[in-house]
Amino acid sequence: MTQKKYFIAMSLFVSTIAILFLAVSGAVTEKILDIPLLDFGLLWAKAAHNVQNRFISSLMEVPDMTSPWFYVKVVTALISIYGFWWIFLRPLNRVRKLGDIGYIAEGEMTVKETANFVQKRRRVGTTPPVYPNGWFGLMESFYLKKGEAKTVSCLGLNLAVFRDEYGNVHALDAYCPHMGANLAAGGRVLGDCIECPFHAWRFRGEDGKCTRIPYTDKIPEVARVKSWPVREVTGWIFLWYHCDGAEPSWSVPEIEDVETGGWVYKGRTEHHINAHIQEIPENGADVVHLGHVHGPALGAGVDLRTMWNKWWSFAEHKWTAGWEQCPEPNGHVGQLVLTHKLTLFGLEIPFITLAVRARQIGPAIVYLEFESFFGKGMFLQTVLPMAPLTQRVVHNIYVSSWMPMFIAKLYMIGEAMQVERDVMIWNNKQYEGKPMFVKSKEDTLIAKHRRWYGQFYSENSPKIFQKDTLEF
Ligand code: FES
Ligand SMILES: [Fe+2]
Repeated sequence: MTQKKYFIAMSLFVSTIAILFLAVSGAVTEKILDIPLLDFGLLWAKAAHNVQNRFISSLMEVPDMTSPWFYVKVVTALISIYGFWWIFLRPLNRVRKLGDIGYIAEGEMTVKETANFVQKRRRVGTTPPVYPNGWFGLMESFYLKKGEAKTVSCLGLNLAVFRDEYGNVHALDAYCPHMGANLAAGGRVLGDCIECPFHAWRFRGEDGKCTRIPYTDKIPEVARVKSWPVREVTGWIFLWYHCDGAEPSWSVPEIEDVETGGWVYKGRTEHHINAHIQEIPENGADVVHLGHVHGPALGAGVDLRTMWNKWWSFAEHKWTAGWEQCPEPNGHVGQLVLTHKLTLFGLEIPFITLAVRARQIGPAIVYLEFESFFGKGMFLQTVLPMAPLTQRVVHNIYVSSWMPMFIAKLYMIGEAMQVERDVMIWNNKQYEGKPMFVKSKEDTLIAKHRRWYGQFYSENSPKIFQKDTLEF
């Protein structure tokens, strides 16, 4: 039975029960109050008629604009319309920047001050290189309109990303070779080129070659900027990064339901995290933390200190998970199979249960497809290193078109809150290059994931080293 049929069958079942309940309660009322059922029905009809009449006549009345009640009603109506739009129609956009969450205020410092201090004093640990090779999500496609250019700083690069007048996206090194202006800071998009805002040299998006210098016909061969490979898939602009400039060795797969509109976009979350990039995908193979960090009910919040609140102990998230590397030619993909259940007093709540298949595609993309009571959908996760130890993690949710917006938003908020629990761990830890694993299948799985992730580094991948400095 498909999810849609299951949903219809459940609705019919619930409505039948409701009708039976009304019929029985009507009959009981008739017995107890000794009112004939017909009179009872007429009573309801009369009441409904009165309410309807009052509503219609209130609409026909010329409002008394001198009365304060008129303004109270107008404001209430506007707030209600806005609330309805916000809950049921507007896609979610939940953004948590560095210092908003995941730090614990120390002494007299604010959370933001502590965040600053923690970032400075942190021990880096023995980290792998900071920018792995692979495809990285620069931004969602809807952020870049035709003829628009944006500066993107990531992976140690400063890029001018623009959508040309034909709709194609390009990513060029941002600095003009003439005198160093940033092409995206005021540069115009003309045809398939971007024009420098300083002296109007033009550069072609496809290969970064200079095609026009307004005051000479002699364009030097070396007048070009580096052009980076970009692709647009599943509503994202992805950039291929390789420290040695190697061409893409694998591609980002399409999701048919997203490309054809079978699944629709219902929102996004964005978290800025202070951690090495590898910490984030590694979470997928860390099955022990699932039960511990993500076990307590979300009602208890995302603060690790208070989420064990006993008032919420009646509810619990339960997880089962397994991770494995896919065979060649998809060795760059790791697959996580997961089930999530919510129990109340030990009883499973069926419409919260999610069966998940997550594919980690390279170092920085996750396609997390799920099946739930309300239908199928996916979370799409991208991680982008904005600095060596600062990651921007974005989740999008796409679901079957008939799934109500507020249900998709609840799933998305649940996912975001679980991520926010991880953020408190990530923001405060060091990367442990030599972990003290114990003999167990759980720790072996993390080791396996580390070996898999190692394929995305090469000899020249940029590294960071701890600076032992004394500050006075
Ligand atoms: S700096 Fe770009 S044209 Fe002069
Ligand atoms: Fe986690």
